[in-house]
Amino acid sequence: MQPPHLLLFLFLPSLLPGMWADPEAQPEVIQYLLTGVFANISSAEVSCVGLVEDIPIIALHPANWSIHFHWPWVSQAAAEGEGEKLMSQYKIGLRNMIRFVHNMAQQTKQHYPLVVQSRAGCVLYPNTTRQSFLKVGWGGRDLIAFEVDKQHWEVQQASQVAELVSESLNRQKSVTVLLEHLLSTWICHKNFLTLKKYGREILEKQELPVATVFARTPSPAQLLLVCHVTGFYPRPISVAWLRDGQEVPPGPALNTSSILPNADFTYQLRSVLAVTPRDGHSYACRVRHCSLGTRSLLIPWENGSPASTISIIIAVLLLVATASAGGFWWWKRRKGNEAAWDTQEFII
Ligand SMILES: *[C@@H]1O[C@H](CO)[C@@H](O)[C@H](O)[C@H]1NC(C)=O
Ligand SMILES: *[C@@H]1O[C@H](CO)[C@@H](O)[C@H](O)[C@H]1NC(C)=O
Ligand SMILES: *[C@@H]1O[C@H](CO)[C@@H](O)[C@H](O)[C@H]1NC(C)=O
Ligand SMILES: *[C@@H]1O[C@H](CO)[C@@H](O)[C@H](O)[C@H]1NC(C)=O
Repeated sequence: MQPPHLLLFLFLPSLLPGMWADPEAQPEVIQYLLTGVFANISSAEVSCVGLVEDIPIIALHPANWSIHFHWPWVSQAAAEGEGEKLMSQYKIGLRNMIRFVHNMAQQTKQHYPLVVQSRAGCVLYPNTTRQSFLKVGWGGRDLIAFEVDKQHWEVQQASQVAELVSESLNRQKSVTVLLEHLLSTWICHKNFLTLKKYGREILEKQELPVATVFARTPSPAQLLLVCHVTGFYPRPISVAWLRDGQEVPPGPALNTSSILPNADFTYQLRSVLAVTPRDGHSYACRVRHCSLGTRSLLIPWENGSPASTISIIIAVLLLVATASAGGFWWWKRRKGNEAAWDTQEFII
């Protein structure tokens, strides 16, 4: 059996953190996702993508394994330091990985087709702690994970294939040493730093959220207030409903979707609040995002106006004195339109 010399970049797209209470303090993630589809004993199709946060940086052409750089600055970064050496050797690593998978499949009498995935990368926390990871999935389930500090593969499921694969990989000391180096020294430090140096403009971009408030009436006794927020980047955002100026706590009446990607590398989500029609309260949707700085976006629900049943886009940036003070709000329009909004209450 030929062991793999480089088991690069394997993995399962795992769930990344969705929403954060504090939009300022975010871990940063760099990761390489690899998928191998093995149709039969003589076939393998490998694809790989690299991402910084959610921004694709590189991809492997499945047909010829040539590397596609999504941005010119990524190839600049790749040419620096060890990147160049890696670029000259990744194909050897891929070939060894393919041979290894077929070998394991035969030894454990697996049925083709097989799908093997891996995810390798690094998380940089706001407290400057760095944590690299390398995990492998087989047939859609976690198989093994590499404990970087121990330079040791750990099984993630009780199965013959997990035992055999981890044992076999753990015997290859030169590979585990190399992986530890690649993960903690290269990906977590050099790769991170060079990418951030060259790609600052893209990686640190911020796009303002645009919020829309409208209502649905599924039944005469129920009013669903919808706050749709889109076009923002980066992903962390806080969206809340205010009832008479007080934040509505989580509960059955409140339903906030997960954050979904748009085609232009921005995000959207919606938050739906179920209320009783004409309950006498005022409602507003409040959005906080790093692109807004310390300001918030406040979009009142205005009942009665015909425009409110369809989407109205109110992109008014507000200086919010105190979010929880309640009672009233100072409204200030963007440049050149001071007269329109004073202290207002919005009553349904
Ligand atoms: C193996 O799978 C590939 C891709 O699906 C196919 O083209 C090839 O004919 C298959 N070979 C055998 C021996 O079944
Ligand atoms: C590899 O394949 C892709 C698409 O299949 C093609 O665009 C690219 O030019 C090819 N690269 C090389 C080096 O052949
Ligand atoms: C930094 O934060 C991470 C994630 O919250 C935590 O796991 C780690 O222990 C922290 N490190 C230090 C030195 O506080
Ligand atoms: C929240 O909204 C989703 C999607 O519209 C829906 O499937 C789900 O049932 C809702 N949950 C609650 C508690 O209303």
